[in-house]
Amino acid sequence: SLTVKSLYEQVHHTSHDPISINGWIKSIRLLKRIAFLDLQDGTSVNPLRIVIPLTNTDEVQFLKILKTGQTLSISNATWQSTPNRKQPFELQIKNPVKSIKLVGPVSENYPLQKKYQTLRYLRSLPTLKYRTAYLSAILRLRSFVEFQFMLYFQKNHFTKVSPPILTSNDCEGAGELFQVSTNTSPTASSYFGKPTYLTVSTQLHLEILALSLSRCWTLSPCFRAEKSDTPRHLSEFWMLEVEMCFVNSVNELTSFVETTIKHIIKACIDNQQELLPKQFISSQENNASSELSINQETQQIKTRWEDLINEKWHNITYTNAIEILKKRHNEVSHFKYEPKWGQPLQTEHEKFLAGEYFKSPVFVTDYPRLCKPFYMKQNSTPDDTVGCFDLLVPGMGEIIGGSLREDDYDKLCREMKARGMNRSGELDWYVSLRKEGSAPHGGFGLGFERFISYLYGNHNIKDAIPFYRTSAESID
Ligand code: 4AD
Ligand code: MG
Repeated sequence: SLTVKSLYEQVHHTSHDPISINGWIKSIRLLKRIAFLDLQDGTSVNPLRIVIPLTNTDEVQFLKILKTGQTLSISNATWQSTPNRKQPFELQIKNPVKSIKLVGPVSENYPLQKKYQTLRYLRSLPTLKYRTAYLSAILRLRSFVEFQFMLYFQKNHFTKVSPPILTSNDCEGAGELFQVSTNTSPTASSYFGKPTYLTVSTQLHLEILALSLSRCWTLSPCFRAEKSDTPRHLSEFWMLEVEMCFVNSVNELTSFVETTIKHIIKACIDNQQELLPKQFISSQENNASSELSINQETQQIKTRWEDLINEKWHNITYTNAIEILKKRHNEVSHFKYEPKWGQPLQTEHEKFLAGEYFKSPVFVTDYPRLCKPFYMKQNSTPDDTVGCFDLLVPGMGEIIGGSLREDDYDKLCREMKARGMNRSGELDWYVSLRKEGSAPHGGFGLGFERFISYLYGNHNIKDAIPFYRTSAESID
């Protein structure tokens, strides 16, 4: 059957054939001689306007039982040209009693009524919230962006791979693993008694595959048992990870990231009609003020996308970043955490750098070795830093982390020993490939919900994934 989106695509070359369409009532308004029905089916940013001329009281009685949220199956609708209106065509139904079938009723207190609702409130309605224009648009944007990445990587000779979710390694070494099983209970339901975790990052397996395929990527669920209940942390999130061989400098990685992300944003700009509603809420269903602010939001998103692809993103070292942060801390206003060389950057530091200082995305490179995981390649400079970067963006902070990987067997072993790792040899499979045709390589991981939220201008990543999992049952 047809979708609302397909009808929008056909609107300029309409035929007179009768049309059948299914969907949910977004709103319905009865006037004296005419009724306006806005139908949505989740395929399109804008609902479908259906005009119903009213010719008798039976029709009025029938239409009066229709309510927001109900499911309808409509047949025998036709296109009418409306040369004097904004829209050149509209869909009409004659004989609504016959042509409209009520497929799914709603209860008396269906919560998505016409008025404007806050995101906080919508988060408390996990089964219904994606019926709103605002939140359904973010899921379609996510789907679109996934597809664009797929096209881009395929064109650039990357192989999409599917690394395991069940693993025995703690790639990031931060101890944020969800444990599936320990070695104490050898039953099938505890993974046969082998110590097993849900992956925090698929990087180590991607490195192995990159040493065969040269270029690979994945989009995979990752799990972190971190207690942080913030708008940018989830217990289960999706990470887009890329691993490439024959990369020799952090600069090659950051240039690649900048080109790739700009390419994706360009695709969003080219398809903005499809991705962003002209107005997030249809005109008669809310008061003027909320409509205005939502329209401004659409405009702001478009402008930001344009700016993002036109500006050169900044690139500074961690050492440089600490200097900037210290100056601000000492001369202008205090951060909650004092910036200190050797300490990780806090969210407030990241947001200041990208949001207030540079007002654009910024790559921060070459962090101290001890701030980062074991696998990063050490710089040859004497300052004990590693060849890595984080991409920080305004309003969000870090969305990508990446690095060159240590490809020298002895150096890697030395670093792991210094960190007290791998005594029982569970990473031998990873380390020993450095002896079998090793190659300089590097890669990165993009937090997919953070990226989508950032693109959409909604900085709570709980809205960018259906059914968010977090440590607390918070809606903030
Ligand atoms: O910086 P992270 O921890 O880097 C890695 O895991 C590397 N192994 C990636 C790689 O080089 N292949 O995580 C990468 C990104 C972060 O920048 C952030 O955007 C996202 O993953 N991320 C989270 N997103 C949502 N909720 C969480 N709890 C996240 N933890 C990390
Ligand atoms: Mg990181």
